[in-house]
Amino acid sequence: MSLNARLSDWRDKRIWIIGASSGIGAALAHALLELGADVIVSARNQNQLHIEFASYETHCLIAPLDITQIATVDEVFQKILATYNGIDLVVICAGTYQPMRAWQMDAQVMQDTVATNLSGVLNCLPPIIELYLKQGGGGIALVSSVAGYRGLPESLVYGATKAALINLCETLYLDLAPSGIAVYLINPGFVKTPLTDKNTFAMPALISAADAATEIIQGIEQGQFEIHFPKRFTLWLKWLRLLPYRWYFPLIRKMTGL
Ligand SMILES: NC(=O)c1ccc[n+]([C@@H]2O[C@H](COP(=O)([O-])OP(=O)(O)OC[C@H]3O[C@@H](n4cnc5c(N)ncnc54)[C@H](OP(=O)(O)O)[C@@H]3O)[C@@H](O)[C@H]2O)c1
Repeated sequence: MSLNARLSDWRDKRIWIIGASSGIGAALAHALLELGADVIVSARNQNQLHIEFASYETHCLIAPLDITQIATVDEVFQKILATYNGIDLVVICAGTYQPMRAWQMDAQVMQDTVATNLSGVLNCLPPIIELYLKQGGGGIALVSSVAGYRGLPESLVYGATKAALINLCETLYLDLAPSGIAVYLINPGFVKTPLTDKNTFAMPALISAADAATEIIQGIEQGQFEIHFPKRFTLWLKWLRLLPYRWYFPLIRKMTGL
């Protein structure tokens, strides 16, 4: 049984991708434009958005945005409504990651990570939910991470923000599904993007951003609530999630060498 309604046709769907200037968000925007959707692309780097999407002209609206600035979120939201008179799906991909161990805590990095990955996402939600309740439907997809399943070395603050998004998404689903609003929790494993290029360790089951976009599109088409990939990696992590701490901690130390 699918937890959200299935979707078979992307043509003319109005889709807002926040965090579309690179990586998973950019790949998803390109794939959805190819499928005939109208895509609004947001991120802070306006030049990069133009480099990626200027060639699409009519079906793509470039709407630069910093999600940590709540007033700007509202401005951009009004601009989108003035152009499209509604939104069918919002995918919040925006995120930042800085590997960090407990003895390397940096207050500025920690605050920036929480401001983008958690507070920034929260800044976007109220106008979207208000619109969907008026429209009588729509979809919200949050890109979290398998790093939010349980504590992992190197993901000190990043993992905590992603765990918060998983919990947030579950609660959004409980609250909004009865009103016909679809909620998707996207939990990627390792995807090759500028974000993971800073990892110095070998990333197991690393996939391309284009493959991640395909997984996300298929998951939404099938009406899944949690869209996690690649399965050969995420199913292992789901199993690890079930272990008692006395087994989990030594196993993670052994597997990561950290
Ligand atoms: N790559 C992976 O292995 C992996 C795994 C699990 C989860 N994820 C998650 O997937 C999402 C996309 O990551 P990615 O790997 O594709 O990394 P990426 O290439 O660095 O993409 C991050 C995107 O977020 C945007 N962004 C960052 N801060 C922003 C802000 N304050 N306001 C608006 N946009 C902002 C960036 O654009 P600007 O810099 O132009 O603003 C960029 O478009 C993130 O949430 C990440 O945590 C990634």
